[in-house]
Amino acid sequence: MTLLDLMRNRRSIRKYKKQTFSTKEILQVLEAGKLAPSGANQQPWTYILVTDKRLKQKIRKEAETVEESFHREAPKPLKNWFKEQGITPQKNFLTEAPALIVVAGYTKVPYWLESTWISIAYILLQAASQGFGTLTYTPSDTSFLNQLLKIPKDYQPVAIIPIGYPAEKPSPETRPRKPLETFVHRDKYGSMHVSETTGTTLTA
Ligand SMILES: Cc1cc2nc3c(=O)[nH]c(=O)nc-3n(C[C@H](O)[C@H](O)[C@H](O)COP(=O)(O)O)c2cc1C
Repeated sequence: MTLLDLMRNRRSIRKYKKQTFSTKEILQVLEAGKLAPSGANQQPWTYILVTDKRLKQKIRKEAETVEESFHREAPKPLKNWFKEQGITPQKNFLTEAPALIVVAGYTKVPYWLESTWISIAYILLQAASQGFGTLTYTPSDTSFLNQLLKIPKDYQPVAIIPIGYPAEKPSPETRPRKPLETFVHRDKYGSMHVSETTGTTLTA
């Protein structure tokens, strides 16, 4: 499969099989994360791999508390989207997935947030290439992770990535992407013709 095909077919997974995997396999996923480019090559990411059952339960409990108030106060369109997608404050995937990768960024260097997110993208793609399902889960407040996982205060957790073998198979038609011409412009905004982007490559 080409990288582009992998990207076309990857979808977030919210249901996981119990089946576990070796540390070596997960380290390969994290190796991809640390290969990401970063502002001034500062490599500000840090990954906490959580496999301990009780710790996963604690994370889920704290996350669900945070989510309940977030869902209560969310604006109407977001509430509707959650409903449409079946997203509730219940975060079963945090205990179902065999492992969680908590990604935090070192906030004392420039571009820490942008760089950390690129690292997350690399992790998602490498995981998909190894047959793993993942989800980018962003609790609205992540400070509970600093406490539970003893992450120093200069590191800000940005996402929890459950990882495991998928127990669901969303088709590439779920959560479809808008057509390329929605996003691409030539020379100035709004100037690309639809016909130019319908092929697989953009001609120079
Ligand atoms: C920055 C970011 C934050 C996200 N936060 C959440 C989240 O908190 N909970 C969740 O269930 N999915 C979350 N997602 C997953 C998105 O909902 C999902 O990627 C998007 O709907 C596209 O679907 P796909 O990943 O299946 O292609 C997040 C994704 C990104 C990139």
